Amino acid sequence: MRATYFQRTAKLYLTSPEESSIRLMLVCQKLCHLDNFGPNRSVRNASSNKSTTFNCNNPQYLAIFWMDFFVLVTTSLAFILLYGVARLTYSIWLKPKLQERLLKQQGIRGRPYKLLVGDMKEFVRQITEAWSKPINLTHQIVPRVDPFTLDNVQKYGKVSFCWAGTRPRLIIKDTELMKEVLANKQGHFQKPPLNPIILILSRGLTTLEGEQWSKRRRMINPAFHLEKLKGMIPVFSVSCGQMIEQWKKMASLQSSYEIDVWPELQKLTADAISRTAFGSSYEEGKKIFHLQKELISLTLEAMQSLYIPGFRFIPTKKNQRRKKLDKDITSMLRNVIQMKENGMRTGQTRADDLLGMLLQHNNQCANGAEGGMTTEDVIEECKQFYLAGQETTASWLTWAIIVLALHPEWQEKAREEVLQVCGKEPDFEAISHLKIVSIPLHEVLRLYPPVIALYQHANKDTKIKEISLPAGVDITLPILLINHDPELWGDDAEEFKPERFSEGVSKASKDQLAFFPFGWGTRTSIGQNFAMLEAKVALAMILQHFSFKLSPSYSHAPYTVMTLQPQHGAQIILHQI
Ligand code: HEM
Repeated sequence: MRATYFQRTAKLYLTSPEESSIRLMLVCQKLCHLDNFGPNRSVRNASSNKSTTFNCNNPQYLAIFWMDFFVLVTTSLAFILLYGVARLTYSIWLKPKLQERLLKQQGIRGRPYKLLVGDMKEFVRQITEAWSKPINLTHQIVPRVDPFTLDNVQKYGKVSFCWAGTRPRLIIKDTELMKEVLANKQGHFQKPPLNPIILILSRGLTTLEGEQWSKRRRMINPAFHLEKLKGMIPVFSVSCGQMIEQWKKMASLQSSYEIDVWPELQKLTADAISRTAFGSSYEEGKKIFHLQKELISLTLEAMQSLYIPGFRFIPTKKNQRRKKLDKDITSMLRNVIQMKENGMRTGQTRADDLLGMLLQHNNQCANGAEGGMTTEDVIEECKQFYLAGQETTASWLTWAIIVLALHPEWQEKAREEVLQVCGKEPDFEAISHLKIVSIPLHEVLRLYPPVIALYQHANKDTKIKEISLPAGVDITLPILLINHDPELWGDDAEEFKPERFSEGVSKASKDQLAFFPFGWGTRTSIGQNFAMLEAKVALAMILQHFSFKLSPSYSHAPYTVMTLQPQHGAQIILHQI
C-alpha cells in the first residue's frame, strides 16, 4: 500500500514541468488556506498527449501535495545544510590553505595553519611564560614584551606569516615594504575588522575608513596645529604644577620618598587632556574620563573571553553596566558640548580648548559644500581624545623617568639645560629651546614605544612590491622589533644612546623609515605635537623640582595592555631639589 503510494507520488513527480508547477501552486494554495480558490486546473502531457485534471479538493491529490511539500522542505533544508557545510569548510579550511599556498609559492615562510584557532594557543603560551617573571635591568625588552613576533621573525624571516585564527597575518620587518603598506595609495589596506565590542569605546577617527575618515580628519586637523597647541602649554603647566605640589608635600615628610610614577603620570595625563579638551568644564571632563576608564577595563575583560556574536546584547550584569556607562558618558558629553556651544554663541566662553576649536571649525564647515560633523560625531571624537591621548603619553613619560633614573648622567645633563633655559614655568619659547631634553625623550620612544606595532588588513587582492597578497590577509608592522634591530640602529641598538638623535630623527638610524612611533603616512597620530609638548613640559618641570633614582622595590617588567606599561609599577625614589 505504502509502496504504491510512493510509486504514484514518484511518478507524479517525474511528470512534465507544467504539472509540477501546478502541483506546487496547489500546495501553496493549500498552505494559504485557499483550497477552494480558483478553478480546477488541467494540463496536457506533450509526449502522451493525455490531459490530467487537478482538483485541489481531491484527497489523493491533497496527500500528494503534502508529500510534495514535505519533499520540498526537506530538499531545501538539505541544500541549505549542504551549502552551510560547504561554506564553513571553505572558510575554516580551504581558504586558509589556499592563502597559505599562495604565500609559500612566493617564498614567504611561516607557521602551518591550525584549524580554527591558528596560532592563538602558542601566542598565549609564549606571552604567559614571558610575562611570568621580570627581566634584568637592561633595555633588551623585546623577548619579554613581544616573544611571539620575535620568535616568528627569527624562525621564518623578516617577512613571514602566522595565523590570527583563520586569517593569515603577515609580519613585515622590512622598511621598504612597510612604506608601501602605510602609503596605501590605492586604498587597498585598512585597519583590521574590529571586534564589535570595542566600538562601544568610540566610533571616532581611528575606527573610520575611506571618504568618511578623510572628511573627519580634515575637520579635526586644525585643532591640533602647532600654532593652536602653543596656547596649551600654560594648561600643561597647571596640571604638572598640581602634581608636583602633591609630590613635594609627601617628600617633605621624609628626606627621600618612594613613589610609583605610573599611576601618578596616568592621573597627570588624564588631568591635562580634560583641561585641554574641555577648558572650563574640565571637572566634568574628569568625571567623564573616570567613567571611560571603567568602561575600558570592562571592555578589555569582555574581549579576553570567547567572542560569541550577539552576546553583548544579553542583559548580564556586566553588559548592563557597560551599556549604562556608555549612556552616561554620551549624555554627559552632550551636555558639555551644548554648554560650550551656548557659551561660544553668547561670547562667554573662548574657543581655545580642543572642543572649542573643533566646534568653531565645524561651524565654519557646516555652511560649506562638505557640511560639518553632527553632535554625535563630536561626542565620539571627545571620547577618542582620552582613549588615544591619555595612556600613550603616560606610558612615554613613565619610561622616560625609569630610563633617566637608570642613566643619572643624562638626567643631570637634561636638568642643567632645564635650569638654564626655563624660568619658573616653561613657556613655548623655552620648550622649543630644550634640545638635550628632547633627545633622551626620542631615545626612550625608540626603546620603549608606547604603541608596539601597527596593524593593517588587505581588503582587496593586492601587491606590495613583488608580493601578491590575497584579500583578507592581516599585516603586522612590528615597531618594537624594528626599533631594536641592529641592522637599522647599529650594534648598540639595545643600548640607551640619546646622542644618536642629536642631529635629528632622520639621521638617527641607517634608514629614515626606521623610526615611526607615531605611525607613518596619512594616518600618523594627530596628537604627535600635542604629546611632544606635553611630555617636554612635564619632564622639564619634574627635573626642575626633583632628582630621582630607581627604588630597590622596582622590578623591570615591561608588557603591553593596549600600550607598553610597567607590569609591577614604576617605583622611584624622589629627592626634592
Ligand atoms: C606618546 C604619545 C602617542 C603615541 C606614541 C601615539 C601613537 C599613535 C600611533 C602609532 C597612531 C597610528 C595608529 C595606526 O596607524 O594604526 C596614532 C593614531 C592616532 N592618535 Fe596618537 N599617539 C600618541 C598621542 C596622541 C594624543 C595625545 C592624541 C590626541 C589627543 C592622539 C590621537 C590620535 C588619533 C586621533 C589617531 C588616529 C589618527 C587617524 O586614524 O587618522 N595620539 N597614534
